[in-house]
Amino acid sequence: MSIRYIKDKKRFIINTQHTTYAFDVAYDHYLYHTYYGKKTSKIPDPHFHTISFAPYLAGQHPRSSPDSFPLEVSFYGSGDFRPNSLRLSADGTGVCDFVYQSYRIFKGRVALDSLPAARADGDTQTLEITLLDEVSGCRLKLYYTVFADLDVISRYMILENGGKDSVTIEKCMPLTLDLCRSDFDMVSFYGTYNQELRLQRHPLHHGTQSVYSNRGASSHQYNPFLALCDHKANEERGEVYGFNFVYSGSFLDEVDVDQLNRTRVQVGLGSECFSYTLGAGETFSSPEAIMTYSASGFGKMTRNLHRFVRDHIMPASALAPHPVVLNTWEACYFNIDEEKLVAFAKEAKAVGFDMLVMDDGWFGARNNDRAGLGDWFENRAKFPAGLASFVNRIKAEGVKFGIWIEPEMVNPDSDLYRHHPDWALRVRGREPLLSRNQLVLDMSNPEVLDYLMKQFEETFGDLPIDYFKWDMNRHLSNVGSCYLASNKQGEIFFRYMQGVYRLLEWFAIRFPNAVIETCSGGGGRYDLGMMQYGIQIWTSDNTNPCDRTRIQASALVAYPAATMSCHVSNPRDNLASLDYRYKVAVGGMLGYELNILNMGDEIKSIMSEQIREYKSFEHAIRLGDYYSLASPEKYDYSAYYYAKEDEILLTVIEKKDCQKGSTKRLKIKAANPDAVYTDLRTGKTYSGHLLKEGIVIDLTGEADSAHLLYLKAKA
Ligand code: DGJ
Repeated sequence: MSIRYIKDKKRFIINTQHTTYAFDVAYDHYLYHTYYGKKTSKIPDPHFHTISFAPYLAGQHPRSSPDSFPLEVSFYGSGDFRPNSLRLSADGTGVCDFVYQSYRIFKGRVALDSLPAARADGDTQTLEITLLDEVSGCRLKLYYTVFADLDVISRYMILENGGKDSVTIEKCMPLTLDLCRSDFDMVSFYGTYNQELRLQRHPLHHGTQSVYSNRGASSHQYNPFLALCDHKANEERGEVYGFNFVYSGSFLDEVDVDQLNRTRVQVGLGSECFSYTLGAGETFSSPEAIMTYSASGFGKMTRNLHRFVRDHIMPASALAPHPVVLNTWEACYFNIDEEKLVAFAKEAKAVGFDMLVMDDGWFGARNNDRAGLGDWFENRAKFPAGLASFVNRIKAEGVKFGIWIEPEMVNPDSDLYRHHPDWALRVRGREPLLSRNQLVLDMSNPEVLDYLMKQFEETFGDLPIDYFKWDMNRHLSNVGSCYLASNKQGEIFFRYMQGVYRLLEWFAIRFPNAVIETCSGGGGRYDLGMMQYGIQIWTSDNTNPCDRTRIQASALVAYPAATMSCHVSNPRDNLASLDYRYKVAVGGMLGYELNILNMGDEIKSIMSEQIREYKSFEHAIRLGDYYSLASPEKYDYSAYYYAKEDEILLTVIEKKDCQKGSTKRLKIKAANPDAVYTDLRTGKTYSGHLLKEGIVIDLTGEADSAHLLYLKAKA
């Protein structure tokens, strides 16, 4: 059993393969956190600090306050002045105090209402702790679902209003972790459209530091992934705690260092974009947050997270080879029609692509980004015989067919908006703000969901579509709903996401043979919530190989290559650039986005060879263990490899300004020292021992230069 309760100590212990997590019930009231780290049987007893100027319960030691306890969950107004996990108003004060009642340990997990959740397998166990707030009559259930072989524990909460009156949740942080030290660096991502996932690392300071989104999407600007590590931690050494959130909307990751030099980490919905009113007898499920611990640096944390995402978050279809797509966007933008795309499909087949993806521009009056969004029916000027006939022609060329949609949005210049202006998010009396000429549909309104399902059913119902690219090109402003009552308006951000997840789920069920690639202007929703529904995410609209090298290296810190959609875009007839772009793109799931009709035969035959080669090692990228050797954030080159059983795929990407002739010794720790490896690209052999000691790569210092070695051990 990975979860145990030690009765005489009132202690809960969770063991994973390499970690231990423990907390006690203190004063028959609090959940007092005692340990999270390397696996141990020596759990410290609670240490009750005595501090001044802090409140305590009558009957407790007068200087022993919840303000000094490391807690599993913390309640606003209950004597702990640090950032709280839960603020619950039954009476307008926000004050609540939930007291420990009971526990339950069981196999599997509980489902979350219209939210993505990590899939349990035969080994998954869950600890449920029930607490009661007597005054409001609410019951709070805290969950710890344990993925022991991956060193991952997930945390979520369910609140049941057992009282007679309604209550409002004003802040909800399903993961609270108090660590009794503050000598950490915090690692997180910031960025912007086209420059997502910049890695930042800084020592913690007293007070609160956070990353967040109040945009209604996890966003390009910050990402829900967060890590805390020793100041000296690197890829292989040092303690690292990794956190993430299985959610795609507004979020808050907050880290607070307190007066006693302890660190509180919280992951959740925050308070700025969230409130939720529960009537008597109603229940609320929070999204799920996850945590992992590595005693051996970032590399181990990354591999824990990668395996977890592949095995418990991504759909089963993501574990099969992903199609190599030819996408029309960068080649054609809105300028598409049937004859052009049939010609694309013919060429795509000849070159060896699996699939043609028709991007934006196929529906309604969609000739630019000013009109048509929401009108999900074919444009007869572009597809005179209708979509069905067009799709059949594409398939007759021998390639699969994918199509672009942006279900959550509407252009004011669309039939949908003209008929239903009240279906867009808006606040009474205020003109809604535009972004990319579009408004956001009120996904909290079941009528909107019903309409979208009906319309997509009508347009796609009988078509053999293999793939949907699900885009989302603006953030939520004027967040008001004509559907929800005024006391429910604070719920829109959350209900919006539930609506999106319901529609994604509907697509998965209604089109079981199609896969989904999600996207939000590139990597604006690169999160575990989206990863549950799609086989991959369009990583960034930026396909410049230098920028992509950095963006992809960052994404891989927290997310596996299987999630990362990487396209070779226009090489401008430059063969060196084509090779370079390819070697960058095989960091993840390969695709192309270029005008195949304008390409010379030489380029097409090189692309053919690239696709053939990629398919020979795609499994190693999709399912292999990732090892970073040199991060492009730090060095003038990037180096990493994937290891899968007897195969190693090593990539070195030179940056523009890298030093000519400099020699790099790259230690391939995952190599088997007793084997001999052959590079299947060149036929050159290397002993596993030498690979472990370090393979030498000389950087050329020339533009567009990259090295790729596909090493296979001899049986
Ligand atoms: C933004 C996406 O990131 C692009 O790849 C493309 O699909 C456009 N939207 C289409 O409008």
